[in-house]
Amino acid sequence: MMHLAFLVLLCLPVCSAYPLSGAAKQEDSNSDLAQQYLENYYNLKTDVKQFRRKESNLIVKKIQQMQKFLGLAATGKLDSDTLEVMRKPRCGVPDVGHFHTFPGIPKWRKTHLTYRIVNYTLDLPRDAVDSAIEKAVKVWEEVTPLTFSRLYEGEADIMISFAVKEHGDFYSFDGSGHSLAHAYPPGPGLYGDIHFDDDENWTEDASGTNLFLVAAHELGHSLGLFHSANTEALMYPLYNSFTELTRFRLSQDDVNGIQSLYGPPPASTEEPLVPTKSVPSGSRTPAKCDPALSFDAISTLRGEYLFFKDRYFWRRSHWNSEPEFHLISTFWPSLPSYLDAAYEVNSRDTVFIFKGNEFWAIRGNEVQAGYPRGIHTLGFPPTIRKIDAAVSDKEKKKTYFFVEDKYWRFDENSQSMEQGFPRLIADDFPGVEPKVDAVLQAFGFFYFFSGSSQFEFDPNARMVTRILKSNSWLHC
Ligand SMILES: *[C@@H]1O[C@H](CO)[C@@H](O)[C@H](O)[C@H]1NC(C)=O
Ligand SMILES: *[C@@H]1O[C@H](CO)[C@@H](O)[C@H](O)[C@H]1NC(C)=O
Ligand SMILES: [Zn+2]
Ligand SMILES: [Zn+2]
Repeated sequence: MMHLAFLVLLCLPVCSAYPLSGAAKQEDSNSDLAQQYLENYYNLKTDVKQFRRKESNLIVKKIQQMQKFLGLAATGKLDSDTLEVMRKPRCGVPDVGHFHTFPGIPKWRKTHLTYRIVNYTLDLPRDAVDSAIEKAVKVWEEVTPLTFSRLYEGEADIMISFAVKEHGDFYSFDGSGHSLAHAYPPGPGLYGDIHFDDDENWTEDASGTNLFLVAAHELGHSLGLFHSANTEALMYPLYNSFTELTRFRLSQDDVNGIQSLYGPPPASTEEPLVPTKSVPSGSRTPAKCDPALSFDAISTLRGEYLFFKDRYFWRRSHWNSEPEFHLISTFWPSLPSYLDAAYEVNSRDTVFIFKGNEFWAIRGNEVQAGYPRGIHTLGFPPTIRKIDAAVSDKEKKKTYFFVEDKYWRFDENSQSMEQGFPRLIADDFPGVEPKVDAVLQAFGFFYFFSGSSQFEFDPNARMVTRILKSNSWLHC
């Protein structure tokens, strides 16, 4: 409630209808602009009509506060630079508040968030809106532990809509220009939501108001960031149309701000193979040709190969030699990251995904209803908390589950765990390192992945035929 009060306070409309005449007109309209601006964005109380009298101390202080915040000379006067900035398009969220965050430092108490695009602007094709929003989400996803998925119905954490003028909150839009959008800090209901002023001309490039840039800024608010006085920051309140879109990057100020709330993205849980870490701690996106690359899980999917790592996966098809790289959440919004195991059962056109003591079933890009289910429903004893790796033998219709130094075998025909298991990996797959990250079946071989190494195992000869780098599948 505190934040609602905070917003409402700043949103009372002001109508200063003084009769104007002659030369005083320009000065009065400047005063009106300044009065409105300071009320809207600098918490000037609406009953302080002091522009009409001599410039009071309070007004001078407010103007100085605004000038300092926006990087102008703090003269306390309505000089031409100040008036020019006041006319610029900007975010509708005010500039007064605590340092980087909203009063009370609201933040999401979970790391997986949902968003929904409730309605669209007519300025752009729908898929252009979708991709601008998706790109904006990725900007924040890359520097935090947060993951996002899109909902198409129901209540999402972040509801995104386009509206004009009065639109149901106490925060009316103002036609073309000036306020472009606003967003609410984290919380239930209206909180976290983003409203775009549809009286702007939203564009994909910089010819109108660029939707991606404004969306990325507003999402910063939805996640709990407040305006920054750093002119390089995405969270600077003025819309900067000169930003080179193709080279867009968050400033260090934005990264510091968001990481003060959520921390950095989780580092790989992998132990480094060499004591000197070769990967700089700042770059957390896995690189396919990193010689230390290991995988969380690998599966086939309708003739393609999927290599899962952290929040991402590479997708390798037969006809496209360059693997594609995606966020898991882009394809399967409700799936977790940092998977344990994955395998495909061709006869059911289903990929099963494991994490912790749960598993999911996916068909194409749809997660099947009724999941996740507990892994114990497959017949594992209660002592088993997670699976390391799994693979389904397509001819024999048997699925192998690897857990530490043992494995279980599941019969796909009878849908039950076979008797006589678990057995030791070392006994039946000699030469394979016992702790397995992922397994793939291809060309009549099993490929066991363990850290950055890969063991090609011939099941007929019951021996390892080659040892390869794990990333040999990614054309490195
Ligand atoms: C979009 O949804 C918002 C919120 O429900 C509403 O205020 C607005 O009028 C809608 N805009 C259009 C164009 O339907
Ligand atoms: C919006 O911007 C586009 C691209 O610059 C332009 O073609 C179009 O005429 C503009 N529409 C309006 C209503 O200003
Ligand atoms: Zn803003
Ligand atoms: Zn609104």
